[in-house]
This record gives sequence, C-alpha cells and structure tokens, in this order.
Amino acid sequence: MSSKRVPRIAVVGGRTWGHMHLRAFSQLQRNGRCELVGLVDLDESVLAERKSEFGVPTFTSLDEMLSSCQPDGVSIAVPDHLHRAVAATAMKAGSNVLIEKPMDITSDGCRELLQIAKANGKFIQMEFMKRKDPYHIDLEQRIARGQLGNVQYGYAWMEDRIEVPRDWLPRWASESSPAWFLGVHLFDLVRWLIKSDATAVSAVGHKGKLSGIGIDTYDAVNARVQFESGASFHFDVSWHIPDGNEAIVNQGIKVVGSEGWLTVDSQDRGARGCLKGSVGSAVGKSDRVLPENAMFTPNLGLFIQSNDRWGQPEFAGYGIESIQDFALNLGYVLNGGNIADLEGKFPSGIDGLEVTKIAEAVQTSMGRGGELISIARESK
Ligand SMILES: NC(=O)c1ccc[n+]([C@@H]2O[C@H](COP(=O)([O-])OP(=O)(O)OC[C@H]3O[C@@H](n4cnc5c(N)ncnc54)[C@H](O)[C@@H]3O)[C@@H](O)[C@H]2O)c1
Repeated sequence: MSSKRVPRIAVVGGRTWGHMHLRAFSQLQRNGRCELVGLVDLDESVLAERKSEFGVPTFTSLDEMLSSCQPDGVSIAVPDHLHRAVAATAMKAGSNVLIEKPMDITSDGCRELLQIAKANGKFIQMEFMKRKDPYHIDLEQRIARGQLGNVQYGYAWMEDRIEVPRDWLPRWASESSPAWFLGVHLFDLVRWLIKSDATAVSAVGHKGKLSGIGIDTYDAVNARVQFESGASFHFDVSWHIPDGNEAIVNQGIKVVGSEGWLTVDSQDRGARGCLKGSVGSAVGKSDRVLPENAMFTPNLGLFIQSNDRWGQPEFAGYGIESIQDFALNLGYVLNGGNIADLEGKFPSGIDGLEVTKIAEAVQTSMGRGGELISIARESK
C-alpha cells in the first residue's frame, strides 16, 4: 500500500500575518499533516526570528526557494499589492497557492491569476477567515435553513484602532484603505452568507486623521452594496479609532430577512473587564501593556494560545483554522482527490475575484463622490 503524501508548504512574507501562517502550519507539522519547507522574506531580521522560532529554512529569493524546495503549496502573506506577482510565480513553478485577502487589488489581476491557475492545473485558495468564525457558520446555516426567510438587508462593520495603519503597516498603509484592508473580509462574508454576487456599489470615504500623520489614505468608508438576490447591505469600515479603544477592533454583522433577523457582535463575546498589565494580543504582535487599569475585550474566537500536553504552544481559533484548511485541501489533492469535489467548501479564486470587484467599485465610487458603480457579471 502506498504511503500517504504529506503536503510540503512554504510561506512568503513572515512578519505580522505571515507569523500566523507559520504557527498554523508548524502546528500541523507537529501532527504529521504538513511539512513546513521554507520561508521567504526580504527582511533578514524577520527571517532570523522565524528561523529560531520554527526551525524553517529561510530564503530572500522566491525563485531560489521554489527551485530548491519545490513546495506543493505556497502561502502568501506579503503586502496586498504584491500578492499577484508572488502567486503567479509560484503557480507557474508548480505550486498551489493560499493568498491572503485581497486576492489582488485589481480585478484584471485576479482574472490573470485564475487563468494561470487553470493553465497550470493548480488551485487558488483565499484566506477569508471570517467564514471559519463559529458564529458566522451558525448564521450561514440558519440562513440556508430559511430561518430568516428571504434576506432583505443587513449591516456589517469593522473598525480598527489607529495602531493598525500607523504601527503595523507603516510601509504600505498609504497604498491600502479600509475597503481593501477590512472591507474585503465583510464583502466575502456577506456573499458567502447570502450566496449572491454584488451588482452595484455606492460609497463615500472620509479623510483627515491619517493624512494628518503622513499616511495618505481614507480613515473611514461607508458603502452600500446591492446584490443579485435583491438584498442590500451597508458596510462601515474604518481604521482610525483611538488607541484607548478597549479592543483592537469593533466588528459585527446584522442580517434581516422576511421571517427573522440575527446580529453577531464579532468582537465582544461576553468576556470583558478592567485589568492592568499585559493583556496580550490576538495576532502575536508584542504584548499590549495597559498604562493604567483599563477596559479590555479579548476575541478568543480569532486566536487563542495555550500549551499542548507536551508543553508546546498550541494555537486555535478561526484565524488559524482558515490557514490550516489550505494544508488539508492540499493533502486531499495530493492523495488522489479532485479539487472540484471541494467546490464551495473553501474560499476559491473566483470568490477572491468577486470580492476584489466589490472593493474596486467602492474605491471608484469614493473617488467620484458616491456615484453608483455597476458590477458586471463574469462571462463564463
Ligand atoms: N486575515 C487577516 O485578518 C489579516 C490580518 C493582517 C494582515 N493580513 C494580510 O496579510 C498580508 C500581510 O500583511 P502583514 O500585516 O503581515 O504585513 P507586514 O508588512 O507586517 O508583513 C509583510 C512581510 O512581507 C515581506 N515582504 C515584502 N515584500 C516581499 C517580497 N517581495 N517577497 C517576500 N517577502 C516580502 C516584508 O518584509 C514583511 O516581512 C496582507 O495581504 C494583509 O492584508 C490579513
């Protein structure tokens, strides 16, 4: 009997979210479900830190890593505007790809990646982690069972503390916006919940706070999106809320249908208090140390670190599972499965394209003072 093939995975981009990718895969590696074969980053200090934590071979050249490791999968966590080039190179070299959100910052770039995937017989998975949040899974199932009736409208919000563009992304926040960095999570979530594509968008943007500290981008975006099903959703996304906010993000969703409604507060899940000292951080940035006793709301659904029975760090939460899912899909394909069997079971490149079309339309509408922008269907 032939032995099972274990997927060989490399990560490209190892700082903030790439660290999450490395944790997710290294944990599967300990359980024999994947092999972490390489990390590429341009920053030697990032490589040195990750090598000492994970023992992963490191590279500063993508081409060198691809030819020396020949990974089955490449997991991409570089800044948004670089996803396309890395994904194209990896697929042409024979790897399947997991792409951090958004797939690309142009719909034409996404279409090009879909063509490259098809031409090379590879699959694209998107890292749209909101689909793995148990509250969203429950909401999706209730909508599918008809418990809300016909979904008519809804509202979704995501508001980051200003430290995200200012301290996490000083090198590329001005090339992004709340629509690209946060909105895409929610656009994908709503498409997945209601199983419908967007047809038109109208959006307004607000500037002033970030441009005042030298980051030339929108502080906040308010968008209304119309879907083929007839539903319309309002999205409020911003990344300039004050440092004193008790959580890194306020976020949630409300969905209203002909027979019922459901709201999820995706940040405040009931654990909330006033503390002093280190309160940790959901994504493994350095611990946040509260200056005085201060309000704090952890989001343990996203990420929680504990120790396994051997005292090794163990990570759980939807921020980890959505990454690990790529390794599980790769394992299925490498052992004779057909990726087409998993259609609809994971966020695909088509989902990535449809989400980018919404974000692109939002950016266009904001630039034109809220003009209604139509979104065309893809020709089959
Ligand atoms: N799923 C989520 O909730 C979530 C959260 C944060 C970020 N992200 C996404 O993850 C991606 C990375 O964001 P981040 O916050 O980690 O950014 P970051 O700036 O902290 O890290 C990016 C890393 O990529 C490296 N890099 C840049 N160009 C490179 C290249 N050509 N080849 C190899 N490495 C290169 C940089 O040196 C850096 O270490 C983005 O697409 C972002 O939108 C997702």
